[in-house]
Amino acid sequence: MRALVSTEGKTAQVKDVPISTPAEGEILVKVRHVAQNPTDWKAMRAVPPGRIIGCDFSGTIEDPNGSSWRKSQRVAGFVHGTWAEPMRGSFAEYLVTEKDVVYEVPENVSWEDAAAIPLAFATAVQAMEQRLKLPEPSKPTKDSFPLFINGGTSSVGKYAIQLAKLSGLFVVASGSKKNHELLKELGADACVDYKDEDWPQQVRKLTHDKLEHAFDCIAEGGSVEKITEAMSPNKGGHTVTLLPISDETKKTFVDRNPKLKLESTIVYTVFGRELHYGVFDNQGAVSPRPSVSMIAYTNESVAMPWRQGSLGEMFIAASRATVLEEDQGKQNQVYGRGSGRHLKRLRNA
Ligand SMILES: NC(=O)c1ccc[n+]([C@@H]2O[C@H](COP(=O)([O-])OP(=O)(O)OC[C@H]3O[C@@H](n4cnc5c(N)ncnc54)[C@H](OP(=O)(O)O)[C@@H]3O)[C@@H](O)[C@H]2O)c1
Repeated sequence: MRALVSTEGKTAQVKDVPISTPAEGEILVKVRHVAQNPTDWKAMRAVPPGRIIGCDFSGTIEDPNGSSWRKSQRVAGFVHGTWAEPMRGSFAEYLVTEKDVVYEVPENVSWEDAAAIPLAFATAVQAMEQRLKLPEPSKPTKDSFPLFINGGTSSVGKYAIQLAKLSGLFVVASGSKKNHELLKELGADACVDYKDEDWPQQVRKLTHDKLEHAFDCIAEGGSVEKITEAMSPNKGGHTVTLLPISDETKKTFVDRNPKLKLESTIVYTVFGRELHYGVFDNQGAVSPRPSVSMIAYTNESVAMPWRQGSLGEMFIAASRATVLEEDQGKQNQVYGRGSGRHLKRLRNA
């Protein structure tokens, strides 16, 4: 099969590689579409030659391998692209993955939309439910409290806003001013522009100095430091970030105020394998239980709202697909698409 494979010089090339054979508990998927994430290029630069790039995908079951899936069933999910043992990667004609980390794609959802959801959505679920321990959307709190989402217009941030709103929280999100309408459409109660020097003060005002939870979907350019300024001065608070936090930052803030908790999270732990991924928190030895329940939760959350209608459309608003266009004979040519496109089309349908 053809696949986008890492090569010398921190780059990648389309190459012919063998199709992996699914082991027990695994399935073979014929890939139809893939979506790009920043992790794809980051991983490509960090791994040795011979690894298959790419995480998000949609496609059909090629070999159910004794599982309850049927051949040709429409599925989507994400894999830990560039992982070697076992071999994983979605920018390929076929991929192998665990049988319980894909979800069925309803007929009314396009391949592109289905492929754009999994990694960003799972990241938001993991950060918010497993790390920040926020109420689940299925059991919204009656006692609302504020959550600040930095990078509300990022792929992960758009899901985070929608999930937080469903959980009954007062959502303050950051994004460029031109995107504030979009953030509000997704469910933000209030917005700040991260380009304003005083945005932490604006957040303190909007939350009446009661902010104790923050999700930093950017975690670059001093955002962690700024978020700590926005936290409740008396109570401190808990911030989860999508990139590692330097020891220096932790030392500066947490040593000064032990009521502050700063931790990073990495979505790949959902696969339950031992992971040593840079200096992220929440990784290391195998921890299968939370990972399995997290995947089950993600599957349920993604699949269920589609059957119910409008919520699925909101999730798709966060789409940002990049497609392998088999039909147009452009196999393995990757190109980008704009976010929000899918929502508009579905609403108009
Ligand atoms: N740890 C994990 O498991 C995990 C999982 C997924 C992603 N990530 C990481 O999370 C980061 C974001 O990924 P993504 O795919 O969600 O990104 P993305 O969709 O490419 O995010 C781009 C958006 O971020 C906003 N932004 C840029 N700089 C900002 C800043 N200083 N403050 C606030 N917002 C800012 C911009 O908003 P405006 O257009 O409004 O200016 C931009 O549209 C990447 O570094 C990625 O590697 C980590």
